[in-house]
Amino acid sequence: MSCIEEKFAQLRATYPKELNSSLVMPFLRIMLDEKKSLGESDAVFIANYLGLPAMQVKEALTWYTMFYRHPVGTHVIKVCRNIACSLMGAERIIDHLSQKLGIKPGETTADGRFTLLLVECLASCGTAPVMQIDDTYHEQLTEAKIDQILKGLS
Ligand code: FES
Repeated sequence: MSCIEEKFAQLRATYPKELNSSLVMPFLRIMLDEKKSLGESDAVFIANYLGLPAMQVKEALTWYTMFYRHPVGTHVIKVCRNIACSLMGAERIIDHLSQKLGIKPGETTADGRFTLLLVECLASCGTAPVMQIDDTYHEQLTEAKIDQILKGLS
C-alpha cells in the first residue's frame, strides 16, 4: 500500500461509509501534499477508491484554486482580485508583485521559489487588499508591506 493509500485508509476509517463523498476534499488535499500538483488521473484514482463518479472528484479538483493542476513554486502567492480587494487596490498589489518577482500571474519564478496566482474572495474582505502565501494570510497590503513579507521568506 502506498503512502497516499495509507493516509486515505486512516482517514476513511474515521468517516461513516455512507459519507464517502465527504472525503473528496480531504483526499485531494492529502494527494496534493504528496504530489504537489494534481491531474485528471488523480481524480479518477480517488473516485475509484471511494466508489464515486469520476466527475464528482474532477469537479472539486477543477473548481477550487487551492488544488494546483500545474507544478508550483516553493511558495505560492495567491492574490485576491474580487470586489473588496479590487476596490482597495488589488490591481496595484498584483502589479507590484509581478514587477518584484519578474513574473505574470499564473507563472513561477525561474528559480522555482514563487508562483503568483490570482484567486477569488479569500473571505477576509474587511482587511482588503489580501493575499495568501502558502497557508498564511497577509492583509491590508501595501507595497512596503509586500517587500517586507517577501524579504522574510526563505
Ligand atoms: S474580496 Fe478579497 S478577501 Fe474578499
